Amino acid sequence: LEQIQKVELPITSAHENMHKQPFVIGVAGGAASGKTTVCDMIIQQLHDQRVVLVNQDSFYHNLTEEELNRVHEYNFDHPDAFDTEKLLSSMDKLKHGQAVDIPNYDFKSYKHSVFPARRVNPSDVIILEGILAFHDPRVRELMNMKIFVDTDADVRLARRIRRDTVEKGRDIGQVLDQYSNFVKPAFDDFILPTKKYADIIIPRGGDNHIAVDLIVQHIRTKLGQHDLCKIYPNLYVIHSTFQI
Ligand code: ADP
Ligand code: C5P
Repeated sequence: LEQIQKVELPITSAHENMHKQPFVIGVAGGAASGKTTVCDMIIQQLHDQRVVLVNQDSFYHNLTEEELNRVHEYNFDHPDAFDTEKLLSSMDKLKHGQAVDIPNYDFKSYKHSVFPARRVNPSDVIILEGILAFHDPRVRELMNMKIFVDTDADVRLARRIRRDTVEKGRDIGQVLDQYSNFVKPAFDDFILPTKKYADIIIPRGGDNHIAVDLIVQHIRTKLGQHDLCKIYPNLYVIHSTFQI
């Protein structure tokens, strides 16, 4: 009993926490699973916070003339279709408080749009959304929370047919061929295996309001801890106190 000591380790001043990095959320899942819908719902609920959405689609490689001529043979669902180095450097800059220019991608021309890139300023919350958002371990490591939107394959295909024929002006035969040649195999080989990295798996995507509410509550708790330190700059946070 004489040897009882009280040890408090380590102590962090709130001042350090004031310069906390943004909260980075990754949202992955199959094409047309409802990732964008879920992100929009989160952003809507966080209307009083500074939130930015980055789409992995913005980082598609531009196609060469030869690839454009044989576009039906191009695999847009393979990890190599994306400029992951550029995605990583943009996310890294945002995480460290720097503004970045994110290109606009045009699905119809298969190229980056002639419109100027979108300037994205540092924010409290950064959401990265994309089919292969969890594929690269370096990108995953930047994330504070990982969400996988899990929607049945038939629902995804039905939505894709409607979206690609109506919004992208594609022919239904072309959509079905692309699905069976590239989209489905890439989902099985590259997207589904990243589900294991998710902190949260949302069944039914945007229909799942309870999941979205819980996610928003968690983000608010994390942002609230940050705000508390702004209000009470002399507050000290004791991470762990234990007795020997
Ligand atoms: P992703 O970003 O994963 O590709 P989206 O959120 O863009 O998915 O949804 C794909 C398509 O399905 C869009 O046309 C969208 O309007 C539609 N959609 C998404 N969620 C639902 C839903 N819960 N019910 C009906 N349609 C939906
Ligand atoms: O928004 P979503 O996650 O659905 O976007 C990814 C899908 O977009 C991929 O399944 C890919 O096949 C498709 N795509 C396409 N044409 C392009 C670029 C991507 O059909 N030019």
